[in-house]
Amino acid sequence: MSPDQSANHTDTNHRQFTPGNFAIDEYRPIRVAVIGAGISGIVAGVRFPQKVPNVELTIYEKDDGVGGTWYRNRYPGLACDIPAHCYQLTFEEKKDWSGLYAPGTEIREYLQGIVDKHKLMRFIKLRHEVVGAQYNEDTGKWHVRVRHIDPDTGVRSELEDVVDILVPAVGVLSRWDWPDIDGLRDFQGELHHTAGFDPKEKTWQEVADDWKDKKVAVIGVGSSAIQLVPAIQPKVQKLYNYVRGKTWLAVPFASNTFATLLDRGPDGAEDYRFSAKEIERFKTDEDFYRRFRTVMENDMNSMHAATLRGSNLQEQATQLFEANMRRKLVKKPWIAESLMPTFPVACRRLTPGPGYLEALVEDNVEFVQTPIKRVTKTGIETIDGQHHELDIIFCATGYDTSFQLPFEIVGRKGVHLNDKWQPHPTTYLTMCVDEFPNMFMVLGPNSGIGSGSMLIMIEYEVMYAVQATLKMQRERLKSIEVKREALLDFDAYLESYFPKTVYSEKCRSWYKMGAEDGRVVGLWPGSALAAVKAITYPRWEDFNYETSDPTSNRFYWLGDGQTYSEKTMTGDRAWYLREEFLDIPPVPTGYRTM
Ligand SMILES: Cc1cc2nc3c(=O)[nH]c(=O)nc-3n(C[C@H](O)[C@H](O)[C@H](O)COP(=O)(O)OP(=O)(O)OC[C@H]3O[C@@H](n4cnc5c(N)ncnc54)[C@H](O)[C@@H]3O)c2cc1C
Ligand SMILES: NC(=O)c1ccc[n+]([C@@H]2O[C@H](COP(=O)([O-])OP(=O)(O)OC[C@H]3O[C@@H](n4cnc5c(N)ncnc54)[C@H](OP(=O)(O)O)[C@@H]3O)[C@@H](O)[C@H]2O)c1
Repeated sequence: MSPDQSANHTDTNHRQFTPGNFAIDEYRPIRVAVIGAGISGIVAGVRFPQKVPNVELTIYEKDDGVGGTWYRNRYPGLACDIPAHCYQLTFEEKKDWSGLYAPGTEIREYLQGIVDKHKLMRFIKLRHEVVGAQYNEDTGKWHVRVRHIDPDTGVRSELEDVVDILVPAVGVLSRWDWPDIDGLRDFQGELHHTAGFDPKEKTWQEVADDWKDKKVAVIGVGSSAIQLVPAIQPKVQKLYNYVRGKTWLAVPFASNTFATLLDRGPDGAEDYRFSAKEIERFKTDEDFYRRFRTVMENDMNSMHAATLRGSNLQEQATQLFEANMRRKLVKKPWIAESLMPTFPVACRRLTPGPGYLEALVEDNVEFVQTPIKRVTKTGIETIDGQHHELDIIFCATGYDTSFQLPFEIVGRKGVHLNDKWQPHPTTYLTMCVDEFPNMFMVLGPNSGIGSGSMLIMIEYEVMYAVQATLKMQRERLKSIEVKREALLDFDAYLESYFPKTVYSEKCRSWYKMGAEDGRVVGLWPGSALAAVKAITYPRWEDFNYETSDPTSNRFYWLGDGQTYSEKTMTGDRAWYLREEFLDIPPVPTGYRTM
């Protein structure tokens, strides 16, 4: 309610109240614009039409396909690094993942399958880049500017969409740029960033089959490099991995659980592919599939304690990973010495990196820790004067995770989100920002999961936005805006939470916008399970509301006291007996009646 309205809010006003001439459920059309058709946009595409009556949804995607991360990334070795059964949506199960760490192509196909099944192309506009969004305080609407490039003619056009709700779902790990290395652009061989590598019509394997005589450099030791190196090592003549920092390599997650669940023998824990027989069992034995999925998910959600400083699990993980790294690097023990960090396990994002350490000890691989001085026309020179001739350079050098968006989102009073987010982004429960009403982000700042899958977070954040949209529509609201003090309280929670964790130790990480120290902007302050609990039910008291109604009475939205189906004698007037509304309580067992 606006301050003006509450000033008029007198007893007289209450008594003179004239109910509106509309049914309580005569829902007005509500327009929603989602920015991005990655997993977040896809989930929004399923849930908004399912849950919100009379919704007019548009999902703008700048790329020419859906899937976001999994559409854009095509580098050799791309795969998920948590078990595939945990990297799928709760409502869309896939039973024929080819392995524990599903390749990127399979994830891309899985997402495309969801888009096809739910007919989401009705809502998705490809090659439509949002270039600006401005809130109009008079109308409570967002004006979204969108640039479209016609794929056939190349002609650019710009359109404006006016919507009630804005859902930025632009991804955290989607803005990449070339690293700041002297001479990089002078290189005359092939130059790729992992996120920009494009095998065109071929698979990466087919492209890499032509690299037998090539000398290739991979710069970096993050998750991308750790997948890329083992994928191409057997296919190239010589591989140099330029590693500036240090990192822990995890042991493959839950591999013993995985082997036990599959009834494999003691040697079965290191083969991450599923056999045809195992896949057939997933498909035909529902109990087996459900047990597998639940136990793996349960195990994944049991790792949170390792992220707390000085915890037993942190200690155990350190010992386990150190032993594993030394064992796998026994042929080149100096690599273990120089790669193993002094910062704690999980300070940077952990990855199991199957095959990475094994690849480093191969004869055609050179692990280079001397800092790069410059890139030349023909190779890379390190500060000790060594120069390696190269045919191909891969920059596996990561992303801009500062949350400074490459387009303007302008809220009340002309406030720019990028300005508001200096020196770092602040949010209410990762999804809302004061002065930016009717805007609900998915995977915004601090919504990453340090130990677990992002997908559960995405699903619950989308449902939060759906709940807010429903409230707005039901109660005929003009705006919903988080209170500044609520945002500041969440911020204070976050600031006091992270010092207890390993994330606040000194290590360079995208969690901290690529810095060694400072604010953690990438992660939720707590476990994945706690995050889900925190955002399941919105705290509506943390928001301010405005209506456009002709009265200040908060119950104007009750209308004329009828539902639409009664008023028009159409539709279902026994809807609460439908299966979806029934909640039959289980009958208590084990009690004796007196
Ligand atoms: C290589 C890689 C591997 C990963 N592996 C895992 C994993 O194993 N497990 C895990 O939990 N997480 C993983 N992640 C994190 C992953 O990004 C998330 O799990 C998830 O895919 C994020 O989905 P999203 O839709 O929120 O964002 P994205 O997938 O980044 O999608 C955002 C979309 O928004 C579009 N967009 C951006 N700006 C605009 C604009 N202005 N106008 C229109 N469209 C726009 C982009 O083109 C993109 O399609 C990985 C990330 C990367 C980069
Ligand atoms: N499913 C998966 O397995 C998977 C795969 C890829 C990505 N991801 C996700 O995406 C995130 C980002 O991964 P990423 O590997 O792309 O990026 P990253 O983790 O940020 O790693 C970038 C690497 O490049 C190095 N680097 C950056 N600039 C450099 C420069 N100028 N000179 C030399 N080295 C430089 C960094 O060095 P320092 O070591 O010194 O920092 C780091 O090793 C991951 O943490 C993960 O969340 C997941």
